[in-house]
Amino acid sequence: MSFPNGFVWGAATAAYQIEGATKADGRGESIWDRFSHTPGRVANGDTGDNACEHYYRWREDLDVMSSLGLQGYRFSISWPRIQPDGRGPANRKGIDFYRRLSEGLLERGIAPLATLYHWDLPQALQDEGGWASREVAERFEVYAELVFDGLGDLVEDWVTHNEPWVTSFLGYGYGTKAPGIQDWREALTAAHHVLLSHGKAVAAFRGVHRTGRIGITLDLTHVYGDQEAALRFDGNRNRWFLDPVLRGGYPADMVDYYEGRLGPLDFVRPEDLEEIAAPIDFLGVNFYQPAVVQLDGDRGPIGVEELPPDGPTTAMGWRVAPGALTELLLRLKRDYGDVPLLITENGASFDDPPVDGSGVVEDAQRVDYLRGHIEAVERAVREGVDVRGYYVWSLLDNFEWEHGYSSRFGIVGVDFESQRRTPKRSALWYRDLISGHRNGKD
Ligand code: FCB
Repeated sequence: MSFPNGFVWGAATAAYQIEGATKADGRGESIWDRFSHTPGRVANGDTGDNACEHYYRWREDLDVMSSLGLQGYRFSISWPRIQPDGRGPANRKGIDFYRRLSEGLLERGIAPLATLYHWDLPQALQDEGGWASREVAERFEVYAELVFDGLGDLVEDWVTHNEPWVTSFLGYGYGTKAPGIQDWREALTAAHHVLLSHGKAVAAFRGVHRTGRIGITLDLTHVYGDQEAALRFDGNRNRWFLDPVLRGGYPADMVDYYEGRLGPLDFVRPEDLEEIAAPIDFLGVNFYQPAVVQLDGDRGPIGVEELPPDGPTTAMGWRVAPGALTELLLRLKRDYGDVPLLITENGASFDDPPVDGSGVVEDAQRVDYLRGHIEAVERAVREGVDVRGYYVWSLLDNFEWEHGYSSRFGIVGVDFESQRRTPKRSALWYRDLISGHRNGKD
């Protein structure tokens, strides 16, 4: 396999999924603390209270990253560590944690890529309506400025939001993720405010950071199915976010569709669209599986359902179809031009053998998944798509949201009793792949 010079090989995590220490050093409550402590919301009643204890074990985790030869590490910043109730000055201890982490990365030659929002909204802002409230977009801008001030000298690369579709549609529509609301109009309202807050953060960044790069991470997919169903699914999942960020407007077919079902989208002010389309330096792509869809009457927000998989799947029943990633990347170039891309997440959960601390966890299926998807990226690169990096999801087994600790995505296993870390075969495979591609050479 061959990748361009400077291609970054990394791994990704998110604050609530690994840090634990949810009450330490002045951290406030987030919507995920509230959600995971609400009976029935998360499998086995799991919470992120301790998770991987990364807040205390970060040095050891940095050493793990070094031992794998990672060139980049994508992590997220916990808003309630910086502003415990979503407003006011930065909590110094929160900033200091991410400074220590970033300094540790730089000392080891690993480039930090920091995400401002990976779903852990301060609960105090949820009490004011969360992302359904326009004011929260303004609060996010202030938070972003505090973080740029506190970390801008250490971190060059930034992601504003992780997966706005999940924040809005799973959080406010399907209700399977925090805050667990079920209202399609609120989901669309939340999506708009998330996008608006992205635009505001990009503008704030340009004001303070001369050399750094900033983008947004979308959860994108390639859709198969009959034309009407596929177009609408694509409109909801992909174009509703790609078009405003990269083309300055919502897709007309979906505006008509949503207005017909949910009433006027009067939460969108014309001037918002220009703000949302502030130029970005890269687009982050999270890819896990394609969708196969068919029309389904009036159900859900778009009357389209996903069909059950008929081929290989992961332990969570997600389709394994790496060719769809190549299709997606080619399509992004075709429809949206030459915006530089980063694969900010890609990975798989499998039922690995136990992490017993002896030797290596054998996870042949994850090796196959990663190899297949990295080859899929390479094919797109060979056809001219500008992909600049790949971050495995995830460095560590962690708190997989409503699935709790039962879904394991790590290339490094975690025994949550002893907190022992054990590399899996996939980590060693990835280490060897990286060392073979140092400086982007074969
Ligand atoms: C993505 C999330 C990430 C993790 C993976 C499996 O949607 O961004 O936190 O849950 O899925």
